[in-house]
Amino acid sequence: MLKKKDLLGLIDASAEEIYEILDTAANMKRLLKQGIKKLPHLEGCTATILFYENSTRTRTSFELAAKYMGATTVNIAAGSSSVAKGETLVDTGKTLDAQKNDFIIIRHPMGGAPHLLAKTVKAGVLNAGDGMNEHPTQALLDMLTMKENFGKIEGLKVAILGDIKHSRVAKSNLFGLKKLGAEVRMFAPETLIPRGIDKLGAKLCSSREEALDGVDVVMGLRIQLERQQAGNFPSLGEYAAYYGCGEKELSYAKPNAIIMHPGPVNRGVELTSDLIDHDRSRIEDQVLSGVAVRMAALKLLNDYRNGSK
Ligand code: CP
Repeated sequence: MLKKKDLLGLIDASAEEIYEILDTAANMKRLLKQGIKKLPHLEGCTATILFYENSTRTRTSFELAAKYMGATTVNIAAGSSSVAKGETLVDTGKTLDAQKNDFIIIRHPMGGAPHLLAKTVKAGVLNAGDGMNEHPTQALLDMLTMKENFGKIEGLKVAILGDIKHSRVAKSNLFGLKKLGAEVRMFAPETLIPRGIDKLGAKLCSSREEALDGVDVVMGLRIQLERQQAGNFPSLGEYAAYYGCGEKELSYAKPNAIIMHPGPVNRGVELTSDLIDHDRSRIEDQVLSGVAVRMAALKLLNDYRNGSK
């Protein structure tokens, strides 16, 4: 059983906790594949989805996950709430607590915002992406997709290519994959590699060939145009030519390597269209894993809440 009311990141999650979420999510995914979308685990619960940044996949999959398990869901877009009138995050949290919300699912542009919220509310807080810090449920869904493909995570070689500096997905994957015994390689222009990431266990590579040589997983990351204040590379065309991944680069990986991307994808930039639509692409399967992982996280946090009452 999870031992906290919140899911804020994988930096402090144990391998046992990660496996518990992945095993529960695998069961949820089996049910979803059978068309079962009515489960009782969250009956009587309320989950509020509080997003200060845009989202398609994460927002909808959290909402579907909560609804499939019987919860009442409420959506708050920051632009149309009292946040736009200057209400603080803590006061927003207190309001949601007073309404007896059981879960607050938050995406915020500032790293650490979910952690602050979690300290000040009784509700369970789930981090749906905080600035450049973490996106734990994305990494969990990525790991579920890998585990289902290869039967294990331990010993896998995973190459992550793209905008690593601004990526909360890269950091959560690094923390989670290392805990489960995978090798994590990274490749990007130097300006898109955060200082010290190698000290956290990433193997930094100096070419696409080195990064992809014999890997099981090729993971492209989105070039985050909205977070590039300074020009970190000359143009998208040059990025694609020198740092992107196509059929030629895929040939460096193992013959059964899979292609992944958290989305949204810039087609033809981090991955060619051929790779996105390749028969070894698992990008759509990642999306289904996303619903299953969020069901598992909500169920396990609710089990903790019930056990600790
Ligand atoms: N992968 C991901 O977080 O996608 P969204 O921004 O669409 O939620």
